[in-house]
Formats: sequence, structure tokens, C-alpha cells
Amino acid sequence: MKIMQVAGECFPYSKTGGLADMVGALTKALAHQGHELTLVTPLYRGMESWLSKTKPLDWKLELPIGNRLVTGQIRVLQVSQDFRVLMVDQPDFFQRKGIYGEDGEDYADNAERFVFFCKACVNLARYLPDAPDLIHAHDWQSALVPMLMHHERMRGGWAKVPPSLLTLHNLAYQGNFPPASFGLSNLPENYFTPQSAEFYGQFSFLKAGLIHADRLTTVSPTYAREILTDEFSCGLGGVLNQRADQLHGILNGVDYDDWQTGKNPHLTHSYDRTNMRGKAQGKLALQKQLGLDPSTTKPLFGCVSRLVDQKGMDILMPALNATLDRGYQVALLGSGMPHYQEGFERIAARFPEQVSVTIGYDDALAHRIEAGSDFFLMPSRFEPCGLNQMYSLRYGSIPIVRNVGGLSDSVVGLDENPTQADGIKFSDFGVSALMQALAQALELYQDQKQLKAMQKRGMARDFSWQATSNAYLELYRQMVS
Ligand code: ADP
Ligand code: GLC
Repeated sequence: MKIMQVAGECFPYSKTGGLADMVGALTKALAHQGHELTLVTPLYRGMESWLSKTKPLDWKLELPIGNRLVTGQIRVLQVSQDFRVLMVDQPDFFQRKGIYGEDGEDYADNAERFVFFCKACVNLARYLPDAPDLIHAHDWQSALVPMLMHHERMRGGWAKVPPSLLTLHNLAYQGNFPPASFGLSNLPENYFTPQSAEFYGQFSFLKAGLIHADRLTTVSPTYAREILTDEFSCGLGGVLNQRADQLHGILNGVDYDDWQTGKNPHLTHSYDRTNMRGKAQGKLALQKQLGLDPSTTKPLFGCVSRLVDQKGMDILMPALNATLDRGYQVALLGSGMPHYQEGFERIAARFPEQVSVTIGYDDALAHRIEAGSDFFLMPSRFEPCGLNQMYSLRYGSIPIVRNVGGLSDSVVGLDENPTQADGIKFSDFGVSALMQALAQALELYQDQKQLKAMQKRGMARDFSWQATSNAYLELYRQMVS
């Protein structure tokens, strides 16, 4: 099958979070299964190291964006025989310090930037000689693609408009813009209605996609059910319930080529289920790297996260503050909202040998924290899938998760099933429930036999991409037939 993936970020080229991991791994897995994959993504600053491997495509983008004509080019990276990346090169839009914004502020022209990107994707899908059988879009950044395609289908002139699938990685990010920005789409006004792209007076990329994509998926079965309820639908429950029959929950997989403890360039020591010495050595190296007391008896809790409300940082800070006198250690890496960054930095200043806080984005440190920690914290308010808990399981770091979304689907909690458990789960979103989970972890740490059994079970769990990519393929087949 000829499949076009379109996404605002994709690992290893660009990444702000799990969206990039998922798109990169899905594309790779599908190509391995013998399908022809084209991934379209913007060419951002920071992707220079890939440029020497690309070639220009003989293609000139000249796209109407409101009353402007914006030009751009395409660079091709041929990853393998069946897999190419088309990078949308529009320096004014994409050669910037950030991907979506800087210093916690979104770029003011994000509507324009991603209308352009979506139009570029449709332009390629339509005119490339090897046109795709299907387009798979991800999140708000590419969610206008299904609406633009729908319009083409209605208008005629494009012999065979391929079906479109939209995957929802996170309903909290909707790409909502002031009404005047709808003009950038150059679509007739009848698309700017509550039955289409209008969402409480705003131009909503995500809503446009929710309505016009032929099928919808989200990244875990539990999140697929949750988003039909008011608590999790971020205001889009009406539309989602209308489309519930075409909405599927497929749990993400893990790319174990990148996320493994054997030959991992980021790790100081390798280890596996049968030889855990390297994990203890990695913990020591991490403690030293981060200036923590290099103790072999203190439990170390890791956290690698965007520091935003979704991730439960507002319950994590007080829970740590209230319990750090119990002597455990914390290694946190993240960036996001300034008040969380500052709050965690204050905790680190209060407990310098116990708590290390690194504000920023650092792939290598993310791997080292996963490997060096005894426990991994994910007290999310909501979590569409979550990848870090699956990485933690493989790295033998016991995940402490709230029982929501993909966390619910991928971790077996100690209270839930003591003989099969590989993690600690709590249900209420609150400081005291999290404190109880921390206490449970500290208790578990005293019972090394039980802890090691849980670690081993976790490390044996298999979330490789085969099952996930097969589920997508099954859906693709239904859509093209
Ligand atoms: P989300 O996509 O909601 O942020 P996921 O758990 O799905 O959550 O994926 C997060 C991904 O981003 C993981 O690969 C994680 O290691 C990575 N990540 C998050 N913050 C950082 C950071 N500050 N530095 C390095 N990697 C990070
Ligand atoms: C989003 C979600 C996260 C999910 C990721 C990849 O960023 O917040 O839960 O794992 O997308 O699908």
C-alpha cells in the first residue's frame, strides 16, 4: 500500500514529545512490512545534519494562504527503498528557534504556518506521480488535511481523492485560532460553521479534522473511551460522540531499537533482565552526573516530562515537598510552564543532595534517568497513551502512574494484581493519593525480592510495534477498499 504520513514533528528529525516518537516508529514499522511510505514534515532549524543526505525535489510549492501566495520547496530524504521523508522547506515559517513557539509562547502566526504545511501535504498527495492510497494525519498541526481533501472531493477534478485518517494524540492541543484566520484556508465560508471548522467562534484545526477525516484513531483504548465523556473531551465530546463508530483506540508501540538497555549510545552501562549490574552502575553514574548523594541504599525516582498541567505537576510538587524528608532521591528533567520550572528548581535548592532538576530538553539524559531510576513518576491528569511508562518498564524502572488513558492500558498495578504487577497505580487525582503511591513505592523498596520480581516482569513486557502497526494496517485496508 502507498501510505502518506503527515505530521508536525517526527523522530529523529524533530521532536517535542511522544507524537514524534510515535510517528517515527509507526512509519518505520510500516516500511519494514513492505509498504511504501512517504512522510511529510516541516524542515525546521536543527535538522541541518540531515540536509546533506537530502536532495531537492523538482517541485515548487506556490500556495494561496489567504490573499498571499507563499512559495516553498521540498527536500527528499530517501531513508530506505520504501521509505522517503519529504521535508517542507519554507524558511520564513520553519527556520526558527522553536517548533511551535519560544519561551513558553506559541508563535503568533502558527495558523499561517500550519495552513501552509497542510496545503503542501495536499498538493503533494495530489500531484506526486506515485500518489498515495491513503493519508494518515496526526494531531492539530496536520488536521486541516482531511478538510482540504474533503473539499477537493466535493469540487471534483481530482480523479481519486485518497481517504484520510486522523490520529488524536492529545485533545488538549486543538490548534484554535481567531476567526479571521479562517480566511487563510481559502475555503468557502460554509466550512466555518459549527458543523465544520468553527469551535466556539474560533477556527479549529482539530475540529475540522475530527469532522472531515474518514476515520479517527486515538492512541489507547482507554483514552478512546474517556474522550467520549465531558471530563476528558476538552469540549469536543459532541463531535466525538457523533463519530464514535469511526473512532478506534490503538495503543502505541515502542521503538526498541532506540529504547533499549543493551547497545544504547546514551547509557553509561548496559544491562538486561538477566544481568542487572549495569543498572546499579548506571544509577551511581547518574547520581554523580547530577550531583546527588551517590548512595546505593536510597531509592531514586525519575521523571522526564513536559512540565504542564496534563502531567500532574501541580500534584507532584506538593507531594514531593511533603515527603522528601523520608530521604529518597529525585532526578527530574523537563521544560514547560515557568511556574513549574521555578517550583521544581526551588525544591532542588532545598534538597540539593536529594533532588536534581534539569530544565531543558536532553535525549541522552532522558535515557539515563530511565535507566538509573528505581521508580518513574507519571502522575498525569490525563494521558492519551504515554510512552515513558513503557520505556520505564523496559528499563526496569517501576512506573508510578495515575490510572488513566494509556497508563491504565500498559501498567499492571500492585493493588490491581499483586502477582502480575509491574507498576504502582493510583486513581484519584490529588496530592494525598500520590503521596500514598510514593509511600507504597518506599515500602516496596524495602522488599527487594518483590521489587526485583516486578522489575523483571516489567522488563519482559513487549510493546513492540508489530501489533500496533498491524492494527493500523487493518484499518487502512478497510479504508481503501
Ligand atoms: P507527551 O508526548 O505527552 O509529552 P509521552 O510519554 O508520550 O508524553 O512522550 C514523551 C517523550 O518525550 C518521551 O520520549 C520522553 O522521553 C520525551 N521527553 C519529554 N520531555 C523531555 C525532555 N525534557 N528531554 C528529553 N526528552 C523528553
Ligand atoms: C501525546 C500524548 C501522549 C502520547 C503521545 C504519542 O503527546 O500526550 O500521551 O503518548 O502523544 O501518541
